[in-house]
Amino acid sequence: MTNELTGKTVVVLGATGNVGAGAVEGALERGARVIVSSRSADGVASLRKTWAGRSVEVLEGDLAAQLTEVDHVVASMGAWWTRPGRFEDQPAASWPEVRGMLLDSHVNAATTLLPKVRESGSYTLITGAGAIKPMATAHLLTIALGGTLALSRVLRFEHRTSGCRVNEVRISSRIEKVPRPGVVPSADFGRALTKLLEADVRSAIVPFTRPETFDPAVQLPDGQP
Ligand SMILES: NC(=O)c1ccc[n+]([C@@H]2O[C@H](COP(=O)([O-])OP(=O)(O)OC[C@H]3O[C@@H](n4cnc5c(N)ncnc54)[C@H](OP(=O)(O)O)[C@@H]3O)[C@@H](O)[C@H]2O)c1
Repeated sequence: MTNELTGKTVVVLGATGNVGAGAVEGALERGARVIVSSRSADGVASLRKTWAGRSVEVLEGDLAAQLTEVDHVVASMGAWWTRPGRFEDQPAASWPEVRGMLLDSHVNAATTLLPKVRESGSYTLITGAGAIKPMATAHLLTIALGGTLALSRVLRFEHRTSGCRVNEVRISSRIEKVPRPGVVPSADFGRALTKLLEADVRSAIVPFTRPETFDPAVQLPDGQP
């Protein structure tokens, strides 16, 4: 079974970012109407300019409050974050900042938008392999992303039999808007992502390394008991 995107409404959260921009392009190429937003006026203006003339609606303010029903949500909030030193060297103010960006944003999005996804639709959390493998100077990012993996596990469990398919895409490569060697162009990521939105796959963690190897049927095992 496939779930065509033609005529469907796809909400992309984090659309000003590298990953989100790719998700917008991929969904547009498959015939979707895309809804995006940004927290900043500059972000809204940039989205309007980038997607002018395409089937993209740029909303301002509380996005969820302006929507009734949508077909698909791609949640791609948060950015790369590192600081010199160890975990215990970080100022206390850093934790709310990182948690807000990588975990609270996902909790808020799932709380407000997941109930608006149609029974035939999907909700996809974008996460990163940085949640699993600690890297020097990325301490707080690893912890906050770990919370996002836990959120993903809860949502995928609770929706394992509901109409809305909840999945996670766990990225382990670098994705950027401007192509350069060693980096996956955003649009190529987005084209691959549409395979998951259109597939009859649910409660899965689908790894992304390269567009050509991305396959919704190839999934990572969930946490061990
Ligand atoms: N790019 C990669 O190579 C890569 C690799 C692995 C994992 N990931 C994951 O993919 C996600 C997106 O990464 P990216 O590279 O696209 O990041 P990015 O280019 O830095 O963009 C970040 C996006 O997140 C939004 N955002 C930031 N803080 C937020 C907050 N507190 N609340 C709501 N939205 C917020 C921003 O929206 P505004 O317009 O509102 O600022 C922006 O659209 C992250 O979770 C990251 O861990 C990315």
